[in-house]
This record gives sequence, structure tokens and C-alpha cells, in this order.
Amino acid sequence: MTRQLLVTSALPYANGPIHIGHLVEYVQTDIYVRFQRLRGHRVAYMCADDTHGAAIMIRAQKEGRTPEDFIAEMAESHQRDFAAFGMSFDHYGSTNSPANYEQCKHVWAALRAADLVVARNVERLYDPVQKTFLADRFVKGKCPNCGAEDQYGDSCEKCGATYAATDLIEPRSVHSGATPELRESRQLFVRLEPLQPFLQEWTKAGTLQPEVMNYLHGNFLAKPLQDWDVSRPAPYFGFEIPDEAGQFWYVWFDAPIGYIASTAEWCAQNGQQLDDWWRNPECEIVHFLGKDITYFHTLFWPAMLKTAGFELPKKVQIHGFLRVNGEKMSKSRGTFVMARSYLDQELDPGCLRYYYASKLSPGIDDLDFNTDEFVGKCNSDLVGRVVNLASRSAKFVKNVGLSATYPEDGDLFANAAECGDRIAAAYEACDYREAMRLCMTLADAANEFVEQRAPWTLKKDPDRAQELQDVCTVVLNLFRQIAIYLTPVLPDLSQQAGELLQSPIESWDQSRTPLTGTAVSKFKHMMQRVDADKVAALFTAPATDAATDAATDAATDAVANAAPAAAGPSPTLAKEPLADQITIDDFLKVDLRIAKVLAAEEVPEARKLLRLTLGLGGGETRNVFAGIKGKYDAASLVGRQVVMVANLAPRKMKFGLSEGMVVAAGTDGGVFLVSPDEGAEAGQRLH
Ligand code: MSP
Ligand code: ZN
Repeated sequence: MTRQLLVTSALPYANGPIHIGHLVEYVQTDIYVRFQRLRGHRVAYMCADDTHGAAIMIRAQKEGRTPEDFIAEMAESHQRDFAAFGMSFDHYGSTNSPANYEQCKHVWAALRAADLVVARNVERLYDPVQKTFLADRFVKGKCPNCGAEDQYGDSCEKCGATYAATDLIEPRSVHSGATPELRESRQLFVRLEPLQPFLQEWTKAGTLQPEVMNYLHGNFLAKPLQDWDVSRPAPYFGFEIPDEAGQFWYVWFDAPIGYIASTAEWCAQNGQQLDDWWRNPECEIVHFLGKDITYFHTLFWPAMLKTAGFELPKKVQIHGFLRVNGEKMSKSRGTFVMARSYLDQELDPGCLRYYYASKLSPGIDDLDFNTDEFVGKCNSDLVGRVVNLASRSAKFVKNVGLSATYPEDGDLFANAAECGDRIAAAYEACDYREAMRLCMTLADAANEFVEQRAPWTLKKDPDRAQELQDVCTVVLNLFRQIAIYLTPVLPDLSQQAGELLQSPIESWDQSRTPLTGTAVSKFKHMMQRVDADKVAALFTAPATDAATDAATDAATDAVANAAPAAAGPSPTLAKEPLADQITIDDFLKVDLRIAKVLAAEEVPEARKLLRLTLGLGGGETRNVFAGIKGKYDAASLVGRQVVMVANLAPRKMKFGLSEGMVVAAGTDGGVFLVSPDEGAEAGQRLH
């Protein structure tokens, strides 16, 4: 049965270029879309730029341009990068479009008609310098609960308290540094409580991943839903609310409506009917998005769709965040890598697509970009296991083509054809990791066959020409099967496989029937090995001032995560802790010094501890307990230089006072003390 699917990726915010974190999402969606198309289904893949909001307005202002000019440049940059990574959108729109305004008016009228819009006067923080009201995330100050400095206006990263921005102690505007004033402002709210029974049910209907459902029920749906603050006073870059002069729709109102508007534009250009996609129960609406924007898509959005008479999504697929070598992406650490930088290094976009696919599971766990693993996987899986099949066999049959009948192969082809069902099920479930694993087991079986039958040896014996052709026919058909299964991930490889075997790959079912008696083209190289140096070059910290960069990182996060004022507690699942990022000033507070181990002994009562006496030069000594017993023999440490944190507050332990800490790297594989090069002197400071 042919299915009809409308698939979306979250609309990237037009405040900056696409980075490799974003790409997790667009790659994940594009694989799903290409998979469905390959299966013969009817798919419309919709996306657009998310262009509105205070952040973009302020940014354009700072650069002395109009917001329209700014977002036009971003739209171009986004689409260029997406194209380079193979995103196969059917349409890419903008939320700042007439089509979107139309749809917003329609949804708004429906909310009004259902009596869900109410107005109230609220006090909001106002930046007297910027002359704008301030969203929670644009105000910082001391936490009203624990007094921690430098906390955002919605919640404290230190103690976890949630509060109103107006409760912050010594608040200041993130934009101007000015002390905000309190000003009355009229706000419009959407009442969500009347829709709560509907949302209670809908969130349990199997559309959401179990962990997302639990999160919503645990954090939001257990209590009455608060009204949603959907208007923003001028000045604001967005759509002015038609029946409320001087007030604009909050960016999160018009952003998801952009999914519909983009579809409307596509329909108009392609002779389609919008209602056939958004008001058709037969059409499966599927949203892909990151976990930071969960509640917009699983509470407000279904409420809007329901009220406006659109169909609800059949599937909301939420993914985790990209980390780099185990840490949050950060500009100051050089791990905030732009899609463009990847392309500038002339790295193959297919490698990143494959790498992400090999890591993506159906869950919402974060995924880690590990540089060594990236190089290893691309080279050993794609080049070593897959492309190698073709490069080791095609050349032997380029003059004779494939055998006229499919040879005996010990059921390799039939088994791989059957395995196709399992691979398809994995794609369908967004378990790409499993799909890639299965593809690689097929590649292993095929490579084993090549090794055993050694076409390069057969080649030397003219009497065995038929056998050589048969062996290559098998290998190339196994290669083609894998290329078909990898088509959603590696469209370029798939196309090259089609050209090599002179039979374009167009449908999944082609994996069921081997090619026979057809010509074979000259083998052209398909994928290059990844150069580890180029990958390393992506992750070099910028030469700019690290402290300012750290501040920009935080601001970027603030923009991306800017939460609505009255939406209830900020979602803990959604937010990355910002606290793991420090400024250079924070770092300089750590007094790192070279120390010499003067004495070392085991603490008999403690499983892991050694007591070290460390010399800091000039007769200064410190007593430190280090958790390295078992790894290091006490006696062997005496005389060795180490690095210590010299200004750690002393800690009273069962066995005595610990007056510092020794620096060591800890991994699953053990613990490794850090020592300076020869020539260092005890007492020397690091930095
Ligand atoms: N504009 C909103 C979405 C509106 S949808 C109606 C937005 N934009 S964003 O540019 O900040 O993010 C776009 C998508 O990329 C989101 O789904 C977000 O979760 C995802 N990612 C952004 N950074 C990411 C990582 N570091 N890792 C994985 N996904 C990330 O949110
Ligand atoms: Zn606090």
C-alpha cells in the first residue's frame, strides 16, 4: 500500500549559520524521507527558516541592517549548506512570508472563535537602553533562591530553582547591561487548560517516544496547564496581530505554522491541495526535532492544530544533542563547528551522514562526535568494507559484464535480500544505528566471499575466466544490495553504484533481484579515505579571545532556547546545563602548580587512596589524598613531578586533611597522572 507522508525538520533559526549539531537533525530527517521515497511512498519534505523574534531584530540593528536583509542572507547560507549535505527538501520556505501570515491569521481566528485567547496586563522587564521588553533568557542576575551569580531569568543552573525574571536579584539586560525597569504591558494568552483533557490523551496515543511522554506527564500535564503568553509588544520583528495593534505574535506562535505555510507554497507551485496534506487523515504527518524544543511541539502545537482543524502528527521523533568528544559544543573550545567549515576542509558530506546514521537510535540520548571514531568508521566501514567490494571486482568484468545467469553463491544474495526487511524495519523505527550495523554484517559476509574466491588469483588463469566472471557477478550484486540499503544515507554512493552497474537505483525492491547479463562500467573511485588531519583541523579553537567567545556561546544558547514567559517550569530534559562552560576568568581562579612527590604511602583503610606529601618548592608541602592506589605503587611515585590544584579548599577526610588535588586523566581504561616535561620546577605555576 502506498503511504502518504508529510515530513518536517524543525525550522532553523535565522540568527546564525548551520552547524554540525543542527545537521544531526536534518540528516536524520533526510534519511527517513529518502527511505520512504525509495519504498515507493508519496512524501513531501517541508522546511523553512525561522526568522522572527527579538534576537534577530537586535542583531540586525547592531549590524546596521534591516532584519529582512539579515534573514535573506541567512536563508541563502542555510540553503547552500543544506544542499551540500544532500537535504532533499521538497520545499524550503520562510516564516516571514505572506503564506505564513495567512496561515497564522487562520489559526488565530480559530483560537479566538474557541474563546481561548485572553488579555491581561502584566509587569515585564524592560531594557531602557535597547528600548525593548526582555525575554527571560535576556535577563541575568543573582538567583533569588541560592544567591548564585549570573543566572538566567527563568531558572538557576546552580540550585535548579525556577522563578520569574522579575524575582532576580540585581538583574541586568544581557543586551545592554542596563538595569531593567518594570513596565506594564498588555499581553495576550492562549488558555491551554480547556485543551488539557485532549492533550492528556493525545500524548499517550503512541505518537511520542515513551521518555517524552513521561517527561510531559511528569513536568506539565500533572498540574493544570498555564496560559501561554503569545504576544510581544512592539518593537518586535514578526507579524503584528491583526486584531491587536502594537502587539506581535511571539515567534513560537508563527514558527510551527511555518510547516503549514511551506506546504501551502509547495502546493501552489505543484498543483497540490493543502487540505490533502494537512486535513487528510490518510496523510501521516511526521515531525523531527531536538529535545530542547519538545514542549512547543508536543503541547502548544497540537493544541493549535486541533483548534484550527488540522490533522495531528502521527509521529514526533525527538533526538538528543550533539556533543563533541564528550563535551557540549562550545565556541571557546573550538567544537562549535559550522557545516561550512566541514565543507571547506573538503571532507565528504557522505561521511558525516553515515557517521550520524551509525550513531542515531530511536531514543533521545545525546550523541557524541568522537573524532577518532569518525575517521575510523568512515575509513573502515565505507571505504574498507563497502566500496572495496566494487573496487576489488568491477575491473575484472568491465569487458565481459555480468554472467548471464546468477551463479551459485551459497545463498548470500538470498540471505541479504531477506535481511532487507529487517533493515527497512530499522529505518522505519529511526533506528539507523541498527540499520547500519546490519548493512555492515552484509558487507562482512561479502568480503569473506571475495577473500575466499580471490578473483585476483582467478584472473591469472585464462581457463578459469567463467569462474572469475561468476565470482565478480556475485560480489557486484552483493555490493549493489548494500548500496540500495544505504541509499537513504549515501545518495551519492547509490548513484555511483547505479552508474557502475548501468542500472540506476530507484527502489528498495531492486535489492530482491540480482542483475545478470548486463554491462559493467569502468570503476571510478567512489569514496575517499578521510584524512584525520582535516578532521582535526575542524576542531581547533579560534585565535580570538576565549572569554568573549564563551559569552557568545551562552548568548547563542539563550537565543535558541528562549522560552515563553508563562509556560511553566523550564523543562529540565530540554536544556543543556550551561554551567559546564566557564570563562577564562573562571579558569584563572584555578591555581595549578608543579609539585614533587616527597613521600607516598597507602592508606590501608581506603580501597583507592594513596597519601602523598607534595613539595611546592621553598619548603612548602601539602598533604593530598589521591584515588590512585592499585594503579600506582606508592614507592614508585616518590621523586616524580605531578600537577596539583594548589588552591582547593582543604577537605577533612576520615584519614586526615586533604590540602589539594593531583591532576590525572581518568578513563574506563584506568587513571593516568599528568606530569610536566623534564626541566619543570616544583612550585611553578601553570597557564
Ligand atoms: N527555530 C527553532 C525551531 C522552530 S520549529 C517550528 C529552533 N531553531 S534552532 O536553529 O535552534 O534549532 C533547529 C533544530 O536543530 C532544533 O530541532 C534543535 O533541537 C536542533 N539542534 C540545534 N543544536 C543542536 C545540537 N547541538 N545537536 C542536535 N540538534 C541540535 O530551535
Ligand atoms: Zn540558585
